[in-house]
Amino acid sequence: MNVPTDNKKLLAWVDEVAKMCRPDSVVWCDGSKEEYDRLTKQMVAAGAATPLKKRPNSFLFRSHPSDVARVEDRTYIASRSKDEAGPTNNWIDPETLKNTMRGLYAGCMQGRTMYVIPFSMGVVGSPIAKIGVEITDSAYVVVNQHIMTRVGTKVLEALGADGEFIPCLHSVGAPLKPGEKDVPWPCAPIEKKYIAHFPEENLIWSFGSGYGGNALLGKKCLALRIASSLARREGWMAEHMLILRFTSPRGRKFHIAAAFPSACGKTNLAMLQPTIEGWKCECIGDDIAWMKIGPDGRLRAINPEAGFFGVAPGTSYSSNPKAMDTIKENCIFTNCVLTDDGDIWWEGMDKPCAHGIDWKGQDWTPAKGEKGAHPNARFTAPARQCPVICPDWEDPAGVPIDIFVFGGRRAHVMPLVHEAFDWDHGVFMGATAASEPTAAALDVKHHLRRDPMAMLPFCGYNVADYWAHWFKMGDKLGKNAPHIFYINWFRKSEDGRWLWPGFGDNSRVLKWMCERVEGKAKGVETPLGRMPADGELDLTGLKIAKADMDELLRVDKAAFRAEFEDLDEYMAQFGARVPERMKKQVVAYKKRMG
Ligand code: OXD
Ligand code: MN
Repeated sequence: MNVPTDNKKLLAWVDEVAKMCRPDSVVWCDGSKEEYDRLTKQMVAAGAATPLKKRPNSFLFRSHPSDVARVEDRTYIASRSKDEAGPTNNWIDPETLKNTMRGLYAGCMQGRTMYVIPFSMGVVGSPIAKIGVEITDSAYVVVNQHIMTRVGTKVLEALGADGEFIPCLHSVGAPLKPGEKDVPWPCAPIEKKYIAHFPEENLIWSFGSGYGGNALLGKKCLALRIASSLARREGWMAEHMLILRFTSPRGRKFHIAAAFPSACGKTNLAMLQPTIEGWKCECIGDDIAWMKIGPDGRLRAINPEAGFFGVAPGTSYSSNPKAMDTIKENCIFTNCVLTDDGDIWWEGMDKPCAHGIDWKGQDWTPAKGEKGAHPNARFTAPARQCPVICPDWEDPAGVPIDIFVFGGRRAHVMPLVHEAFDWDHGVFMGATAASEPTAAALDVKHHLRRDPMAMLPFCGYNVADYWAHWFKMGDKLGKNAPHIFYINWFRKSEDGRWLWPGFGDNSRVLKWMCERVEGKAKGVETPLGRMPADGELDLTGLKIAKADMDELLRVDKAAFRAEFEDLDEYMAQFGARVPERMKKQVVAYKKRMG
């Protein structure tokens, strides 16, 4: 076999894994178009993929109905101590977990090919980038990684003979007996699925699932869970944030990084089309930001990914035209409807679909009363195809961040926008960010899901220590620290109407943030934070009732006081690890709401 590296650590690891998993053959991936074409051709021939007549070089896959999303309750942070993982992560002792998983891995690739995928998160050679190597027995994973990361020979060159990499081991957990025919989507039953992280060793072991973040290990596993823990040790930040450039009519460029929980419209905001005159928005990333303090003392951000793994349902020319234009070719679709004319479709697309094959592979019409696409159906699309991709999206130095935005989805209570008084207050805002799973959240106490900095499922260590790391970064950044804001696009009226139009009109709120950074807008102090003063939000051309605007910017102190108990319970779970500076913020916040 032609082995394209002399990196001893990598060779030894590949050898060790091959001995344990016992694949039929080992293939080193080079990231080439030939490789992509060969694998997609094989998968089409095997019945695992369908080429799409309407979208050149694009394929539809259907997963097993039991393997459709990230499995948070099978996701583990196996640090040496339970406290290190913290109360919000599943913890198992690393040696116990390794023993269990070694048992599962033994012979798990029999009858299959083992692919070795050297990949870079971030442009190869960027001082912020990191190298990973994923071993997988899934060709679907290989072609997705071609889009989502930078794969291949260049990465091995950068790694050299003794460079460091993050080992990511993945198996679908479905060995084939001699002569046994493969199924379109092999995977293991839920009780055998493990998405395991060993942060002290920078190691990822995933078993049993072929889907999304469980299997494309560069994304949530490496770029967030392992990277967050690395970032703490090395003094940088790995965040669940989109990155965009917002340029004013006079040409001043602002860079915004925003953290929202899953399903709060991050991809839409990242590709926003401003409705205000003269402002331009360009996308740098839609999910993850890696940030280091640059030589100029400012926080420099890169998007470590090379593609978008976007939620398909709801994406349309009215909700996100730039995403629709991104996915015209060279894409992978998973769990969408296959239309009669050889295209894909999902609920919320612009035109209805009268007939097709649903995500389970069955004949489908809307009359069936079931969704045709799975709610977590996805597109995997190269970021470079996005018509509003920023020309500097691959700048190895990253872009300087001016603004951080946190937020959540709340029908009630939380106003449209507020700004932190200072960095510590901003950390408190991010730490206490919350969403309501349902619009009818009357019993607030039991309906808030706190999602600190949108990292709840992605922080590779104790969340309270993560807050301490944020405070430390603020100290290091000093006067160069980004301004911090909190938004809620999702307010509803008492009779259930959306109060804010959202989408492109969110640019009005971003404009106010930029004017705050420039010192042009003064804002007004409220108990919650600084909010737009009368006339500061640019509402030109927008029809919105004054009463709705007043409601969107109202601070209902009594409603916030009603959440104190929930806040205390949330903080209490972290016990003595809650930083003193966070405790001070809680006291100050309560006093302001008093
Ligand atoms: C994602 C998520 O898929 O956050 O990006 O769940
Ligand atoms: Mn995400």
